[in-house]
Amino acid sequence: MRPLLIAGNWKMHMLREEGQALVAGILAGAAQVPAERELLILPPFTLLVELGARVAGSRVDLGAQDLHWEESGAFTSGISGPMLRDAGCRYVLVGHSERREHFGDSGVVLWNKVRGALKAGLRPIYCLGENLDQREADRTADVLAAQFNEALPGLSREEMAQVTLAYEPVWAIGTGRTATPEIAQEAHRLLRRRLSEGFGEEVAARVRILYGGSVKSENAVGLLALPDIDGALVGGASLRVESFLGIATAGA
Ligand code: PGA
Repeated sequence: MRPLLIAGNWKMHMLREEGQALVAGILAGAAQVPAERELLILPPFTLLVELGARVAGSRVDLGAQDLHWEESGAFTSGISGPMLRDAGCRYVLVGHSERREHFGDSGVVLWNKVRGALKAGLRPIYCLGENLDQREADRTADVLAAQFNEALPGLSREEMAQVTLAYEPVWAIGTGRTATPEIAQEAHRLLRRRLSEGFGEEVAARVRILYGGSVKSENAVGLLALPDIDGALVGGASLRVESFLGIATAGA
């Protein structure tokens, strides 16, 4: 069985004091979350070191929202995989739709970032999802296949088993519109089939596929109950203790 992963993507939010308070609340309430569920926070870079120290040894894991693919070098502003490991990270997002849209992360860049993360011993959470036009044109399956193929083929089975996928329909991110359980399950099933075709049944059975896009405690119950949904990547609702823990305990 794949343990559910509930990940909070803080995006470009939280100054030090707010971040500390949020983590304190999550740690204080974490005991309510069933032991077989995993918790992850993805704060901005500026908070990683201090929050990494804060969550060390707890059941809350730490991850970053992006990385540079090289280990080190003359890449002004870049933050590398080894630096993230050094800050206490175990996970890193790659290919979030906001990176694709606002920072121009292309397929080649994402290909390199997945490999840079794995080389540093980080577990990439590779995000993919269609936008509204693509969904309305009935192109979701093609878009998911293309995004899958941008970054993942060529990984060994062992490497792929370290990767988590996150299906995030762009039209559901930050909009309050969530995919219905049927829409989400169908996209997750397609991704699971791709995994199986590309990497074999065993890897496909191991890789977690998170759903993201306006997840709240109310809709999390239905989503987390689906067979191919292995957790949630939560944006807005991860910025408050009650809503994040509400999702983490949903349906339990
Ligand atoms: P949202 O963001 O929960 O605010 O829709 C999800 C995400 O972008 O990861």
